[in-house]
Amino acid sequence: MKILMVCLGNICRSPMADGLLRKKVEELNLSVEVDSAGTSGFHSGEQADERMRSVAKKLGVNIDNLRARQFTKNDFREFDIIYAMDSSNYNNILSIAETQEDRSKVHLILNELNPGKNQQVPDPYYGGTEEFIDVFNLLDAATDNIIEKIRSNG
Ligand code: 4NP
Repeated sequence: MKILMVCLGNICRSPMADGLLRKKVEELNLSVEVDSAGTSGFHSGEQADERMRSVAKKLGVNIDNLRARQFTKNDFREFDIIYAMDSSNYNNILSIAETQEDRSKVHLILNELNPGKNQQVPDPYYGGTEEFIDVFNLLDAATDNIIEKIRSNG
């Protein structure tokens, strides 16, 4: 199975979601590939934001090796599940979907934590350390549930 995490810049939320899920998948030896992308290409080629990397590292996840890239239509072909961090990302991804199958792959990640609530992972870019820690904790909980779902589906 292949799972893609998507936010706007691919330098804060989606690399954090990517790093957390990747770590859990590796620890459990699951055959799941994880990647991330941004709906914008503003930060393509860059490392994740220094503040996100620093919070991640303090909390036990190293995302230094990830580099930002822009989401493309081809990702609908490559991935089985596409998790958007907020409804703006969600709508942007859906706006380039071409088939019902493409659309069916796209979900808001926090619906894995609180089903049906359509909650957003807040953009921490203009915030402080507290906001980055909140993002980490939300994504840690959501990726725990994703792992549980994968394991229970065999
Ligand atoms: P992200 O955060 O979507 O979680 O990676 C942002 C990063 C950069 C910008 C906005 C949000 N930006 O405007 O450059």
